[in-house]
Amino acid sequence: MRTIKLHLSWGSYEILIGHSLLSQVGETLKKSGFKDKIVIITNPVVGLLYGDSLRSGLEDHGFAPVILEVPEGEKYKSLVQAGKLYNHLADFQAERRTPVLALGGGVVGDLAGFVAATYMRGIPLVHLPTTLLSQVDSSIGGKVAVNHQRLKNVIGSFYQPELVITDIATLKTLPEKELENGMAEVIKYGVIRNRALFELLENKIGSIKALDEGLLEDVISLCTDIKAGIVEKDERDLGLRNILNFGHTVGHAIETVSHFRIAHGRAVAIGMVAEGMISRRMSILSDSELNRMKLLISRAGLPVKISGLDIRKLIKAMKHDKKKIGGKIRFALPKTIGDVFISEEVSPLTVEQVLKELYEETQDLCHNRQ
Ligand code: NAD
Ligand code: GLY
Repeated sequence: MRTIKLHLSWGSYEILIGHSLLSQVGETLKKSGFKDKIVIITNPVVGLLYGDSLRSGLEDHGFAPVILEVPEGEKYKSLVQAGKLYNHLADFQAERRTPVLALGGGVVGDLAGFVAATYMRGIPLVHLPTTLLSQVDSSIGGKVAVNHQRLKNVIGSFYQPELVITDIATLKTLPEKELENGMAEVIKYGVIRNRALFELLENKIGSIKALDEGLLEDVISLCTDIKAGIVEKDERDLGLRNILNFGHTVGHAIETVSHFRIAHGRAVAIGMVAEGMISRRMSILSDSELNRMKLLISRAGLPVKISGLDIRKLIKAMKHDKKKIGGKIRFALPKTIGDVFISEEVSPLTVEQVLKELYEETQDLCHNRQ
């Protein structure tokens, strides 16, 4: 098991990464000083797979857990669902030190985190991420949110968990498409911060997709370490943390315009290609680096082009993005693999040209999948 500590000005918390850690949650929470009532928030898919064993493990350690399920899907990351959860917390007589355990992927984590952040002005939050995406990204760093109408993550807060327990064994039940979605964020870390990680992915993508346990622990730990290091320097996303949004300016627009039909990871994959192409058009990123990025994204099973979405709507959605400041759209653009910079100087024309090029591109890299 690896332990990564995330230090912030007001304190720190641990991210535990290893195999079969869910079976030890009771013991771990007891050591962390929790007792009595525990609220597990999950969805029916993850609840069915891991809910009962988690609950009985907690009961074995003297806890009184309750499982609350929210329906499956991004559209339920909403204020309406948060409202229903507040009712359940009140019925359960949750108290200021009653922890919320977010058992699931990023949807459950963001929603449960939002509820923990706001109920009684904040009750303890413990993330138990069960998708690759949530293990390398959404469970780390304290962004919690719900969507509002078509706007993604627009109502939220920064609310750090007290503990993150990442059980890599849960990835065994994850559908392949979801593993691929998580790979988008993993590749992102390589591009923004760690060329050696990118090269490791180029060399071992097949073994990672085949869930090689040791390799997964290494890769998830590397990603966690990168994200923790960035969050430590910029908890509130006022500067450096913006680099984590590589691929997300275009990606969030794709999610919004597709009405969340295109999953976050896939949207980010296309977004990384688009933002790489913007950098290339600005004569910053070389052709060969861009092609390496595209090839790896494609080999991970992810899309590298857009189809069926209106370009004007995508541009409009980008203008509504939370990352926009003073009317300018903000991009994290790669200089090389392993290094990015933030730019607010991308012309709308360049964005439009790149989106058109992405539609027009006929080369299908998907046959390169390993
Ligand atoms: P998700 O939570 O929808 O999970 C994907 C699917 O996998 C769901 O159907 C879920 O039921 C299922 N699932 C989860 N774990 C499973 C398991 N172990 N076995 C079988 N099935 C399992 O999607 P996601 O990709 O984890 O998260 C996407 C969300 O995360 C988006 O809402 C995005 O906005 C958010 N996000 C937040 C942050 C942040 O910093 N807070 C960062 C990135 C993404
Ligand atoms: N997922 C981007 C961030 O946490 O800042």
